[in-house]
Amino acid sequence: MQTQSDRLKALPPYLFAEIDRKKKAAVAAGRPVIHVGIGDPDTPTPAFIVEAAQKFVADPKTHPYALDNGDPHFRQAVATWFEKRFGVLLDPQTEILPLMGSKDGLSHVPLAVMNPGDVGLVPDPGYPVYAASVRFAEGEAVRFPITAERGYLPDLEAIDPKALARAKLIYLNYPNNPTAAAAPRAFYEEAVAWAQRHDLLIVQDAAYSELYFEEPPLSILEIEGAKDVAVEFHSLSKTFSMTGWRVGWVAGNRDVVAALCTLKSNMDNGVFTAMQWTGAVALEGYDRPEIHALRKMYRRRRDCLLKGLQSVGLEVNHPDATFYVWIRCPGGLDSRTFADRLLTEADVVATPGVGYGPHGEGYIRMALTVDETKLREVVERIRKMKLQGGKAL
Ligand SMILES: Cc1ncc(COP(=O)(O)O)c(C=O)c1O
Repeated sequence: MQTQSDRLKALPPYLFAEIDRKKKAAVAAGRPVIHVGIGDPDTPTPAFIVEAAQKFVADPKTHPYALDNGDPHFRQAVATWFEKRFGVLLDPQTEILPLMGSKDGLSHVPLAVMNPGDVGLVPDPGYPVYAASVRFAEGEAVRFPITAERGYLPDLEAIDPKALARAKLIYLNYPNNPTAAAAPRAFYEEAVAWAQRHDLLIVQDAAYSELYFEEPPLSILEIEGAKDVAVEFHSLSKTFSMTGWRVGWVAGNRDVVAALCTLKSNMDNGVFTAMQWTGAVALEGYDRPEIHALRKMYRRRRDCLLKGLQSVGLEVNHPDATFYVWIRCPGGLDSRTFADRLLTEADVVATPGVGYGPHGEGYIRMALTVDETKLREVVERIRKMKLQGGKAL
């Protein structure tokens, strides 16, 4: 009996599975493991959101299938928030579609817009879901590098013209996972003009747009003409510590929004209405002190970890957004070896950069999803490691 499609077999091995297995073994052996590998907030969802959800879940009106293009109240709340936050007007009827988290839409968009053999351009390093989704749509995932030298912004003009000619979409992700880079307006302007010239869709992943420490990041939809060539994916997951709740949306080009809606109406029956109503409450409470406090908490953690890692001689980026820190491996270690040594010698779980693509080699990623005491402990354990042939770093 065939139990796996060729499509599934063709996926690269899930690199993080190996580190996960080792982590579980270490935990089972009773070692004091600190997990800074995964970007899942450690703080509970704010109480005003939980309380709203409890009420909505008890309301029978939320119990039927959530068909069509989503709950009008949630779509309106998104449109209102988008206008307040970015100054962008969206038609809630045609330019917004609720999703079960942004991953739902990011992973389905190639199926909705690409034909077999089309190219999907994916950032390297980048969130692994992009390349996998292009492959599931029987497209060819072509990686383009984002490197420290260019502030982790791609050189769009350097993309292979042959791949570009066959490309139907390009994934962008700012603020960026794993490098924590943000994109300036000039880059979005360049990207929109470039996509118009080459007639392809920009799929901008803005899952981290609200986890910022300096200037609030832009939406690509602020750029004139962006709605002709772009859709942007948003999520409540990180902003409101709601990863498990599965609420997000796509906004932008109405034809792509409609295509995704058609595709998904053949796959699921929408986001639980109680969750959409709760999402509206979260967005309406965006300016509440609890939400500002979350951002401040991540900023304190960022400052704590940066200071500590620098004090042990590690080279780190300076994240202006996201809850990730992108760290250069010391002494020319490759990322798997460094991550492995962190786990075996310091009981610290970090993510090897190569898991995000070949250009992630030479880096590891840590997530600011543990408290400052633990972050300081991570640093102290690294200080004790004998890195660089026994010398201090
Ligand atoms: C870059 C990026 N995009 C999207 C997601 C998915 O988030 P969600 O589906 O919870 O909205 C993640 C999750 O870690 C991510 O790192």
